Amino acid sequence: MRPTYDTRTAPTDTGGLTLPVGRRMLAGMESSINLSTVDMAVRIGRLTLRNPVVTLSGTCGYGDEYGPFMDLSLLGAFTTKSVTLEPRRGNAPPRVVETAGGMLNAIGLANVGLERFIAEKLPVLSALGVPAIVNVAGHTIEEYVKVCRTLDAQPAVAGLELNVSCPNVADGLVFGTDAGALGELVRAVRAEVRRAVLIVKLSPNVTDISRTAAAAIEAGAEALSMVNTFVGMAIDIERRRPVLSNTTGGLSGPAIKPLALHMVHRVYRQVAGPAGIPIIGMGGIVTWRDAVEFILAGATAVGIGTALFIDPTTPLKVVEGLRAYLASRNILAVSELVGRLERGR
Ligand SMILES: Cc1cc2nc3c(=O)[nH]c(=O)nc-3n(C[C@H](O)[C@H](O)[C@H](O)COP(=O)(O)O)c2cc1C
Repeated sequence: MRPTYDTRTAPTDTGGLTLPVGRRMLAGMESSINLSTVDMAVRIGRLTLRNPVVTLSGTCGYGDEYGPFMDLSLLGAFTTKSVTLEPRRGNAPPRVVETAGGMLNAIGLANVGLERFIAEKLPVLSALGVPAIVNVAGHTIEEYVKVCRTLDAQPAVAGLELNVSCPNVADGLVFGTDAGALGELVRAVRAEVRRAVLIVKLSPNVTDISRTAAAAIEAGAEALSMVNTFVGMAIDIERRRPVLSNTTGGLSGPAIKPLALHMVHRVYRQVAGPAGIPIIGMGGIVTWRDAVEFILAGATAVGIGTALFIDPTTPLKVVEGLRAYLASRNILAVSELVGRLERGR
């Protein structure tokens, strides 16, 4: 098969190079672009990110613990741990376990609660020079609405990301797995949020994710994050007991990448692409190559979560690798790559 680019000049992870490139070279139009001229900015609704790489909820706290490991101002955005109206201690340990190619977590939404988040965490986060996306969770529509309304009034909050993978205590439904309940929730929050960008984070634990995606968009979501973790479990065969105190947990990491990628592709083609709604793609991204796959599938931005536990500087490596990939193919803006998957073999 004839390569569509010159493999001798394939991008490296080193960054800082001016690379001769691909398609135009093959066509005899030798040219090169400098890495610094690649436009890495993307738009998530009304929010412009300096690059498409964001950190994921629950994997880097509120920024204060993670800040010493890397310059957070180099990220596209930082996403906080889920914030709920009241503080939560979460589940009893053990609440994380490593699995083949990933991990299971059942943290149980442990967080400081809305009041302490605003008083103690938000000032630190806003001083880090990175747009803050605050992930919000709750058990009733009223709880989500109250938390989102309060956070929308905080200028330091650039975006609100609804974690809808929580059971609704009123009727036992998980908002994220029922298109009707999800639409109702998003509509209620939409009516109260005026300033921050409203992002809905979809659960993958459904038969057809396009249905919940369509419900979220129809109800006013400005962007979709996808996906949250897949429900799974691990068993300790000596004790004949589940490893996690909660029995089940959410699977994340490279093990879920092909599944998440497929869901992004499906939603982009069927719902989000035609509606012009951006997707923040996530699930097992470790390298810039993974990020390129998600962008080709239709993601406008990409999120890094579990990989941070192995190397906290992963997002920077992904940004630089992505930039080199684009430069090596004479693509002047990352936004040009979104959904640009060739059809067939
Ligand atoms: C330890 C841990 C805690 C998480 N906590 C949250 C959370 O509080 N809210 C949420 O919406 N997602 C949470 N997630 C899901 C991630 O944000 C992300 O959607 C998922 O892990 C897939 O991405 P990854 O494979 O890159 O980690 C958590 C994931 C992990 C591993």
